[in-house]
Amino acid sequence: MRTDETVLIETNRRVNEKYFKLTFLSPRLARGVKPGQFMQVKITPVFDPFLRRPFSYFRADGKRVEMLYEVLGRGTAILSQRAPGSSLKVMGPLGKPFNAKAKGKKRVLVAGGVGVPPLVFLAETSKADYLLIGTKSKAEVLPKRELAKVQAKILYSTNDGSYGTKGFVTVLLEQLIAKEGQENLYIQTCGPTVMMKAVMEAARRHGIPGEASMEETMACGVGTCLGCMIKTDKGWTTCCTEGPVFSFDRLECAHAGH
Ligand SMILES: Cc1cc2nc3c(=O)[nH]c(=O)nc-3n(C[C@H](O)[C@H](O)[C@H](O)COP(=O)(O)OP(=O)(O)OC[C@H]3O[C@@H](n4cnc5c(N)ncnc54)[C@H](O)[C@@H]3O)c2cc1C
Ligand code: FES
Repeated sequence: MRTDETVLIETNRRVNEKYFKLTFLSPRLARGVKPGQFMQVKITPVFDPFLRRPFSYFRADGKRVEMLYEVLGRGTAILSQRAPGSSLKVMGPLGKPFNAKAKGKKRVLVAGGVGVPPLVFLAETSKADYLLIGTKSKAEVLPKRELAKVQAKILYSTNDGSYGTKGFVTVLLEQLIAKEGQENLYIQTCGPTVMMKAVMEAARRHGIPGEASMEETMACGVGTCLGCMIKTDKGWTTCCTEGPVFSFDRLECAHAGH
């Protein structure tokens, strides 16, 4: 059940060149959470920055919540400076999660950037077959300890070829489709919009079903501000309450020409 509470930051430290990890204790915010759901976080107790920022659950074990985040702008830069012991206002869990099963199909999770946290959470808590992670370079690859509980086979791509396969994560995806056969796969993706569009385009070409977690700007997170509207098969809808996870066939941007 959704809750909005003030928590105390337990830890908040850099994990690698790309990510910070923040943890806090809250049985209410950690209970019953499913991968793909998110939180709305008030970065400071003061008015500025005014709007909350959305972050996926990276882990929730019943009492502790973990967030994995990238510093992209002012809000996340301030968040990275918040010290353990200081307070944070957090509302969650919000939104609709990923499917934990895909009957008779092998599940391929395709992650990049801020899409890595929810898909690692999904891979840790459900039986996925492959986790494909695309980064710019080796320095951005998550340390092994953060992936130790993932049972899926993890494959990496880096733009500069410094780790795993050289190229975008869709290179890995195409290799996997060729190996496993398109009729056997179900794709779940989260990451930069341009990456997800390429993944959905490959899925469409091969006739592979799946779902994507869409990253619209979210101010309220609960369907009232209408700031996160997204075009679907049933017209415009709020990404925060109807998503953020949508099946490919519901998304306009998954179809050719977009
Ligand atoms: C459902 C959902 C889950 C998310 N989960 C995570 C997560 O687990 N970890 C994480 O690091 N980030 C996550 N994000 C993205 C995160 O919300 C943004 O990075 C953050 O709001 C940026 O705030 P800022 O003040 O630092 O940047 P701003 O100053 O608001 O923006 C700085 C830059 O970041 C870009 N940006 C802003 N919002 C987003 C966005 N939603 N997606 C991609 N780029 C954005 C802007 O275009 C701009 O270039 C998630 C977003 C959504 C919608
Ligand atoms: S974020 Fe306000 S309606 Fe979705």
